[in-house]
Amino acid sequence: MGEAQGPPAVKKSPPNRFIPRGRAAAEGPAQFFSFSTPDKIAAKGDNPSTRPPPAETGFDDLTNGFFEQGPPFEEINEDNVEPLRSYNDGRFIFEEAETVEEGLGPTYNTQSCSACHQNIVTGAASQIAEHRTGHTFNGQFFESPGGSLIHSRATFPDIVEHVLPVDTVRTFRISTNIMGDGYVECVSDSTLTVIRDALTPDQQGTAPEVAVLEGDGSPGVGRFGWKCQHRSLLSFASDAYLNEMGITNPLFPDENTSQGLFVGYGTAYDPLPEPEDDGTDTQAFVNFMRSTKAPPRGPITPDVHFGEKKFNIIGCNVCHVASITTAAAGTPINGGAFTVPDALGNRVIHPYSDFLLHDIGTGDGIPIQPTPQYAGTATQIRTAPLWGLRTRNRLMHDGLSFTYDDAIQRHDGQAAAARDAFNALGDFQKAQVIDFLNSL
Ligand code: HEC
Ligand code: HEC
Repeated sequence: MGEAQGPPAVKKSPPNRFIPRGRAAAEGPAQFFSFSTPDKIAAKGDNPSTRPPPAETGFDDLTNGFFEQGPPFEEINEDNVEPLRSYNDGRFIFEEAETVEEGLGPTYNTQSCSACHQNIVTGAASQIAEHRTGHTFNGQFFESPGGSLIHSRATFPDIVEHVLPVDTVRTFRISTNIMGDGYVECVSDSTLTVIRDALTPDQQGTAPEVAVLEGDGSPGVGRFGWKCQHRSLLSFASDAYLNEMGITNPLFPDENTSQGLFVGYGTAYDPLPEPEDDGTDTQAFVNFMRSTKAPPRGPITPDVHFGEKKFNIIGCNVCHVASITTAAAGTPINGGAFTVPDALGNRVIHPYSDFLLHDIGTGDGIPIQPTPQYAGTATQIRTAPLWGLRTRNRLMHDGLSFTYDDAIQRHDGQAAAARDAFNALGDFQKAQVIDFLNSL
């Protein structure tokens, strides 16, 4: 009997790839951040003329300068699009509805990125929510067969995924905003951990280290998604292309199952070999997302101004951090896979988030990965960035809060003191805080 030659083939299964190797690099020195508004910074002796310039903002479909605008958007079509040429080309790919012939499905959620990321303009948030489910046994979380994301559409009726009765950990997760995320990506890991360390232990957030899939597996501080489950936009876009649309790509080469049943190439359900995208589309998504401007503020009236002061006094700002500066241009980030460009480096953003995970009593029970390292993240949710809040009317990760007051009342745990302080305000002051929220 012959013997197998060479080392056994190790399958690069997703759980292996998602386990970060080593520790996150600092990505340069921590940059300036502030829990309060710019005028408060000035009052502390900060010199506005040496302060880093603000990030570009606007709901205007224009580039922030990272990538050139390109030919008029109206003139781009399926035949003349050059995916990696410009912002407008990237936007076209981000808006393009995929078909089965192009790789859509077999299980998926919808046909284009912009179907879920489009209010007010392409790249923003929307009301579309998706299901995630699993169950807990002996304190350990187990994903539903094939993964915790339940796809709500399929290209054949017999493979639409259904939630199993045993999977009693169930949540919705609503689509998040992407505008300005190029700046968020360029915030150094060291800045996020310094923000974390500025709080007392009872309110301190968690900066989870996750694998950057396009690098060598070395980790970075996750900041994208409701669980901070990704550090880089390329990792997230590649994940989304597979998991939202069923399109396999270099970083996510294995087709999704239908509740654990293999439905990929070779079965009657999938006509195309993997990967269905050679990496061009995922890079086009990333170029576009990195070029989006941050959400602009609404009018800042005197009530809005005083509302923000109250917001700070009652301690909302310790998690909803007002001002963060991106790393200097030239800083290597994403495990060395990307270098902060001039257009995105050394800019101040006003995200009203620390991009950290907190336990405010709303945790959906689902960890970043079903591994011991991430078990603690089951009860945590990322501080929802409040920029662009006035464009959203279904609030919190599950979209189940209808008003700002509903959302505030759900703050418990690490945010209980802030909620109580809000409830102790007079009606007039509460209304000012709401006016402030509605200006974001
Ligand atoms: C069916 C709706 C849907 C589609 C289609 C979709 N997304 Fe998303 N997107 C979401 C949801 C929901 C989240 C939050 C997911 C979570 O955290 O669990 C999200 C989050 C993101 C984020 C993280 C943003 C942040 O700051 O938190 C990025 C980046 C992103 N999507 C990119 C894409 C790209 C690129 C595509 C197209 C390939 C895409 N999405 C398609 C629903 C969708
Ligand atoms: C300890 C950290 C923390 C504090 C303090 C805090 N929040 Fe939050 N906030 C969060 C987290 C985490 C979420 C997301 C929770 C979820 O989706 O389950 C959130 C979500 C929100 C949302 C919903 C945003 C959206 O897009 O859906 C609003 C509005 C909000 N917070 C306002 C406030 C106000 C006002 C205060 C002060 C009274 C406050 N928060 C204090 C952590 C905090």
